Amino acid sequence: MRINDNFEKVAESYLFSEVASRLDTFRRENPGSDIIRMDIGDVTLPMARCVVEAMHRAVDELSSDDTFRGYGPEQGYAFLREAIAEGDYAARGIEISADDIFISDGAKSDLGNLGDIYSEDSIVALADPGYPVYLDAAVMSGRGGELKDGRWSRIVYLDCTSANGYKPVPPAKHADVVILGSPSNPTGAAFTRSELEVWVEYAQREKALIIYDSAYEAYVGTPGLPRSIYEIPGAETVAIEVRSFSKTAGFTGLRCGYTVVPASLKGTDGSVREIPLRNLWNRRQTTKFNGVSYVTQRGAEALYTPDGRKYIEETISIYKGNARIIRDRMQADGFEVFGGEDSPYVWVRSAHGESSWELFDRFLRTARISCTPGSGFGRNGEGFVRFTGFNSRAKTEEAMERVEKSLRELRK
Ligand code: MLT
Repeated sequence: MRINDNFEKVAESYLFSEVASRLDTFRRENPGSDIIRMDIGDVTLPMARCVVEAMHRAVDELSSDDTFRGYGPEQGYAFLREAIAEGDYAARGIEISADDIFISDGAKSDLGNLGDIYSEDSIVALADPGYPVYLDAAVMSGRGGELKDGRWSRIVYLDCTSANGYKPVPPAKHADVVILGSPSNPTGAAFTRSELEVWVEYAQREKALIIYDSAYEAYVGTPGLPRSIYEIPGAETVAIEVRSFSKTAGFTGLRCGYTVVPASLKGTDGSVREIPLRNLWNRRQTTKFNGVSYVTQRGAEALYTPDGRKYIEETISIYKGNARIIRDRMQADGFEVFGGEDSPYVWVRSAHGESSWELFDRFLRTARISCTPGSGFGRNGEGFVRFTGFNSRAKTEEAMERVEKSLRELRK
């Protein structure tokens, strides 16, 4: 059989798998080394009590004849879709119907799978640096074109640098699909309302689709910054929003998120007939996805109770506090630092012209801490590394003490 040749075009392994494999090699070569993980954005605090209790109750229901459930709706149970429509949208003055919400096993899958519903020859625009799934998925589906000088010929790169505050601006060129993340993974930059308005105008003008990754919206604390693209009038006719409970509520292992495809969002077919994208996504999901487990969805529903909200507020405040500790330490040590304010991620520029992987190696060797090389997020990430605030407070403090100590020794 003939393989999908596009797989030969993407990097041999996914960024975070590559980091994990280098850490394994390091551990083998340095047995007993106690590495503090600050690379992948994986949460460490235990789940909310109310979530755990809701899941226990759901398991008990499954163990009884009269309350047992088999397959659930592929789109998700109404109780969770309604809780989201009310808690995440109506409560903030945004009108989103529960029917527009599709429960998923997390943002990553949906960001990778949405490519199924737009034309194969679509021109995709994405931020550099950006979450690697955006580019890898575009290349795997044949939308990359050819790789020349480290860039794909059919991708429109939205260059993000310190000059534009790491926030992509609309390109001069046409794109059919624009993938935006705010707050950004990896830089932590978050759009203002007016910056987002410009993107909605671009999409309206170009008849483009925006895929808005707002997996980190719960980290937005700066007053006035939008948390949903639907805060911008007209966005419901141009944008899909993808969200996750992973970083909001400790669901990285449990797996649950959701995607909003408003009924008013339409694309055109070959005869320029308007087709609601919601119908296509529904068709895609009912064919290729069997829904998230009942137990997990009951757990997610509990996040919309007062106890659930309190848990989210408290844990996010801890993770953001960790990011602040990292930011302050790196800044004090002379690194140029971005993010870490409306985001759990801190984006650090190498101080001595080292490459991202050299800096990764240096932190690993001298301080026994792991970070993510910025070059894995795109060409503009070269020379940077990303730290996460997701470890425990004690480990974060210890990691920063180790950095300080290693720099002191280096200066001797
Ligand atoms: C990250 O570290 O960027 C994320 O944890 C990866 C993910 O959510 O898939």
